[in-house]
Amino acid sequence: MSAPSLIPAAENEQRERIKTVVHPHADAAAALLAADIATLIRRNTAAGKPTVLGLATGSTPVRLYRQLIHLHREQKLSFKHVITFNLDEYYGLPRTHPESYWRFMHEQLFNHVDIAPEHVNVPDGTVPRDGVFAWCRAYEDKIRAAGGLDLQVLGIGRTGHIGFNEPGSGRDSRTRLVTLDALTRRDAARDFLGEANVPRHAITMGVGTILEARRVVLLAWGEAKARVVATAVENPPTDTLPASFLQGHPAVSFHVDPAAAGELTRVRHPWLVGSIDWKPTVARRAMVWLSQQLEKPVLKLLDEDYSEHGMADLLTEQGPAYGLNIRIFNEIQHTITGWPGGKPDADDKHRPERAAPQPKRVVVFSPEPSDDVLGMGGTLRRLVDQGHEVTVAYLTSGNLGVSDEEAAMAAELVLELDRAAPAADNPGAAFAREIRRQLGTKGAFDGDTPDIRRLKGILRRGEARASLQTCGVDASRMRFLDLPFYENGRYRQFELSENDEAVIIALLREVRPHQIFATGQSADPSTVPAICFEVLRRALARTQAEPWSADCRVWLYRSPDREWEPAEIEMAVPLSPRELTQKVQAIYHHKSQRSQSPMVAAGLHEAWQQAEHHNRAIARAYDALGLAEYEAIEAFQRWSPA
Ligand code: GLP
Repeated sequence: MSAPSLIPAAENEQRERIKTVVHPHADAAAALLAADIATLIRRNTAAGKPTVLGLATGSTPVRLYRQLIHLHREQKLSFKHVITFNLDEYYGLPRTHPESYWRFMHEQLFNHVDIAPEHVNVPDGTVPRDGVFAWCRAYEDKIRAAGGLDLQVLGIGRTGHIGFNEPGSGRDSRTRLVTLDALTRRDAARDFLGEANVPRHAITMGVGTILEARRVVLLAWGEAKARVVATAVENPPTDTLPASFLQGHPAVSFHVDPAAAGELTRVRHPWLVGSIDWKPTVARRAMVWLSQQLEKPVLKLLDEDYSEHGMADLLTEQGPAYGLNIRIFNEIQHTITGWPGGKPDADDKHRPERAAPQPKRVVVFSPEPSDDVLGMGGTLRRLVDQGHEVTVAYLTSGNLGVSDEEAAMAAELVLELDRAAPAADNPGAAFAREIRRQLGTKGAFDGDTPDIRRLKGILRRGEARASLQTCGVDASRMRFLDLPFYENGRYRQFELSENDEAVIIALLREVRPHQIFATGQSADPSTVPAICFEVLRRALARTQAEPWSADCRVWLYRSPDREWEPAEIEMAVPLSPRELTQKVQAIYHHKSQRSQSPMVAAGLHEAWQQAEHHNRAIARAYDALGLAEYEAIEAFQRWSPA
């Protein structure tokens, strides 16, 4: 990873104003970058110079830190001559707070390497308000006195922030106290066990401070970052997206995984930046894009529409427009089916799912309770109504997503029942009393005791049962797998083991499914949906040779992180107005997941609103392409192991 040149390396990177390297996986990127940092440290140490690193927090750099720890342990990489400066810290949090960045950095890196404590610098969140300005200046002076940052590592927030430089931060901003953006606070809500607990302010290095580093690397994983990465890389710099100011830096590079690269022009609209191989899937994407650009249904596109929009070669190769239009129209038409499990005894040559066997054995894998109904509540119901044997498997209990207030309410309810109908020996009431005691002694940010987690898991099970009942799934077909990685972990600190895989393999062998529905394949690899997908992927790889496996199709349902475009959809299941209402009702049962904040993003702060909005948006998009007009559509993509 040498310093990037400003001239694009390839024709298709012509829109990119920052060198962007797409790595096959986040781990591969982290390993390369760690090796690069090791070289820097060794070279400086050999020359008798310290290495000054600017470091970031968040899930993104954790893989990098793990690699550095590995190099320290296995290859004797020493941090004795390394000085670090962290980007930011929440204002108001003492070092000891479980979510302080000081603590995070010690847990994720410093405690595991031989860095000298006096070489570690993290902004101090406890400086009194009237001393903040002086403190920030001193931080900058200290960076300069150390010789300036050799390398700054960055993640990126969904608002486009680097460090905590939220939209509105200028190119010349320095280390200072800032107010956090609403979206940033919402993204941090899980770490803080509720948005209300997320601090409102932070101290952060400024954009100007970051730009003074001799080299800058920004890392991003997962589809939730795709849009912000593309905008920072391709659009003119603006303070509404502070990461875009990195464009001016002489030695900056972005390192992303394929999902985070998904919105770059070379990935999303490759025909705009070079000649390409017009495979059917690419042609479909290009035509849908053209139709959307011109706001014209597919069947009305003219030859000149193609040639005027960089698609002349498609026309020459596969045109004229008349035939192309019909072909693509039919392809999209064939994604629509009211028979997600295949239509019995029908010709299935042009259907997304095969007709036989009927009924099918179907497993819907849901990372947490509620992902299933959010992503495919309507389809789930159809599968059941159409006679398939549907098992819904909840991979995790989701107990980390339940607030203490909910747990307390549940305990009180049990105690109330006990008072209404007292029984001599009531273990339920004893448990509830114990929960009440434990909640009473628990600090706001302490992790939950096993009992509390158990109760929270029970709550989510109850919600899932109620929700699935409205979809017609029989209680005997619900599986709560409580995968160990989740039950024994907490956010950002999950570790997969063979035990997780074993649970899935056992279920697959028992059911021998013809159809699997899953999600999370393109999510940030540190998130619960992504980890759940990874366990499933491994389990499927290990059972690949088993007879049922050859006859099993895997369908992905969408995660809320990124909208799917019509051209990416391989199965579109329309929902009638009534079905959409039923779906919303199913989601509604997940009461503990209702938004606890009055904050509104685009007017859609509740998960059910987002799902409804998305399902309607797909229907509108199909309609605009000239297909039938439905109320709503749930969308799926087929997945096969690479
Ligand atoms: C926080 C940090 C940023 C980080 C961002 C993204 O806001 N202050 O430095 O880049 O979160 O976090 P994650 O890596 O968890 O997506």
